[in-house]
Amino acid sequence: MTGPDPLYFQSEMQDALRIAVNRIGTPSYVYFVDRIRSRIEELHTAFGRRFQISYAVKANPNAALLRLLKSEIELLDVSSGGELNLALGSGYNAEQLSFSGPGKSVPELQLAVSSGCSKIIVESTSELEDLDALCAADGRSISVLLRVNPQKVPRGFGVNMSGRPSQFGVDEEELADLFRSASRLKHVSIAGLHIYAGTQCLDSEAIVENFGNYIDIFRTYAPMCAGALSDVIFGSGIGIPYHDRDEPVNLFDIAKHVNPMLDEMRRDHHLHNVNCILEIGRLLVGEAGYFLTRVLRKKESRGKNIRILDGGMNCHLAACGHFGTMIPRNYRMFRLPISKSPGHSTEQMKSYELFGPLCTTIDQLGRAVELPTLDVGDVIAIACSGAYGASASPINFISHGPPREAVVEYGAGELLIHDVTGV
Ligand SMILES: Cc1ncc(COP(=O)(O)O)c(C=O)c1O
Repeated sequence: MTGPDPLYFQSEMQDALRIAVNRIGTPSYVYFVDRIRSRIEELHTAFGRRFQISYAVKANPNAALLRLLKSEIELLDVSSGGELNLALGSGYNAEQLSFSGPGKSVPELQLAVSSGCSKIIVESTSELEDLDALCAADGRSISVLLRVNPQKVPRGFGVNMSGRPSQFGVDEEELADLFRSASRLKHVSIAGLHIYAGTQCLDSEAIVENFGNYIDIFRTYAPMCAGALSDVIFGSGIGIPYHDRDEPVNLFDIAKHVNPMLDEMRRDHHLHNVNCILEIGRLLVGEAGYFLTRVLRKKESRGKNIRILDGGMNCHLAACGHFGTMIPRNYRMFRLPISKSPGHSTEQMKSYELFGPLCTTIDQLGRAVELPTLDVGDVIAIACSGAYGASASPINFISHGPPREAVVEYGAGELLIHDVTGV
């Protein structure tokens, strides 16, 4: 059974979704930019501006969103030449960019160097050597950050990228050797460390413990850098409440423990002036987005109420449970009331099996979902869809075309709908 998104009961949000659906149709994504802005503000308040916030573009590369958030987002993390060009084209400057990713090609490294990307995050020895050769040929010297693959990650992370053989970063136990060999390179020096150990964690204690592990690693290896460390990047790993019974984390509870740890870290003279960066994807944009899909067909099959929707796995792979999860679980969802309706519905709920339009059994958006009566033409809104939605889905499979995407915000008391794509 799936509970509604907490904002379901805010009629203003429902009205906004209804206006958007009438204007842009379905299947579609609607992103509330004001909610992203308040999340950024909440982070700054909780951590007392100890961190610069870096947004991981992979979570949602929507160009209108990037443009509208330009004055609030200090840094962007890109993971391909395409994302780098998108960031520059959206008005961010190269000083604001970090470039992570285990498989950067030489042309992508060249692009990063020539565009002046300020934080290239090196994930392997061979990448470091390629960069050195490339800079030697160009007659320049650069400093880079090194991504560390830590030995341990606390339990509680939905996706765990560390503590085992991994394509991400350099194994913690190899770091001392790597620093020694890096000191022989003439054109590249290591000036920062980056760790992203795991993600989708809703356990505050595990998040605090993970930050503590990061700090231990930064303190151990900072003295091995040729000069002072300029930046340390904390991959946040903080999750969002996709499913019924998921409790959102309280950022202030986390910050209460992390802030003194950061202050203590800075008492270490190697890290006294270091710039602390918090790298975040889903926590910024996930809860700000809704996926809207309309009932195309209804039928019963062997005692089950089946509904077929106009967008499924082709538009929203993650909500079907095929993106970073072992067992599919329903996202929070609700039926969008057709007309203005305040608060709770008194309609009787029924159990539905919700499928997308594709000819594959895995195209299922909901299992035994409790919803009011669903008729052809009704629209379902799926919450927590602002991250890893359209861009993380097999949009070309069976050629239904891309979902529409709209960024909305409230301006002068009115809902503004920006740059609709996919029409
Ligand atoms: C290096 C790096 N940074 C940032 C992110 C964003 O993670 P999330 O959206 O869970 O915050 C990821 C996710 O895979 C990542 O690998």
